[in-house]
Amino acid sequence: MPELAYLENHFLPLDEARVPINDRGYLFADGIYEVAVTRNGQPFLLAEHFARFERSAAAIGLRLPFSFSKLENLINEGIKRAGFVETMVYIQVTRGVENRRHDYSTDLEPTLLITFRARPEIPEKLRHEGVGIITVPEIRWSRCDIKSIALLPNVMMKQRAIEQGRKEALFVTDAGIIHEGTAANIFLVRDQTLLTPPADHHILAGITRNFIIEQARTRGIEVQEKECRREELLEADEAFITSSTLDLLPVVKVDDQTIGSGRPGPMSRTVASFFEKTG
Ligand code: PDD
Repeated sequence: MPELAYLENHFLPLDEARVPINDRGYLFADGIYEVAVTRNGQPFLLAEHFARFERSAAAIGLRLPFSFSKLENLINEGIKRAGFVETMVYIQVTRGVENRRHDYSTDLEPTLLITFRARPEIPEKLRHEGVGIITVPEIRWSRCDIKSIALLPNVMMKQRAIEQGRKEALFVTDAGIIHEGTAANIFLVRDQTLLTPPADHHILAGITRNFIIEQARTRGIEVQEKECRREELLEADEAFITSSTLDLLPVVKVDDQTIGSGRPGPMSRTVASFFEKTG
């Protein structure tokens, strides 16, 4: 099945899509993005992704060049045209094209790119056995709530994790406060309670994170959004990471320390079941 892109008002094969070198996304990473997936063929929590996209756009003073109903139609059309069983939809808007300068003209036409690829399959082994992660210094900026395409620290640290045979790298401040992974949020489980860092400027408020919090509370599971320390993670009964592409993956090792029993625990299984019950 060919991967598909939508760029400059038309659909085309992804490997034929081109942007000018003066696109401010290319020169400055001056843009924002979203990643959404389908579940049973339908975009999952798209309204929530749109709402976050709007917040990111407002935060960087970017005018989104479309209405959400238009974007939703494009996404549905692309999903249909691409024809994957489940699709990963990447949506990116950059500030537009002009000769390189740090400040920008306010009348630029933003560049919208959407890509449609098969939703990556997570090997069952990882879900069953859990994954290991590493902790890394928090070297990012102070507006991680904006879903910016400027992801160099995330790229560097994810690569470090992979080179060490681990699935994710978790950003931890010098003071020992845990934030999030390079592309995922983190949850701890302690005494049947879910703990996760608060959705302030230090993390991206994950759509999956918010979905889990809501579903857990609906089911009477206590959730605390609170500052979490590295030691709390190491001593947790269970831990897991969450994102649109992963749903949830149990974490059984952090650096050299085994978490809980070293196997995915009951709470991780309960939370994973939230996803099975969605349409
Ligand atoms: N990333 N934190 C960061 C830094 C992320 O990049 C992501 C997602 C998340 C989880 O957010 P959500 O639940 O809305 O997917 C948290 C996407 C998947 C990516 O960059 O590919």
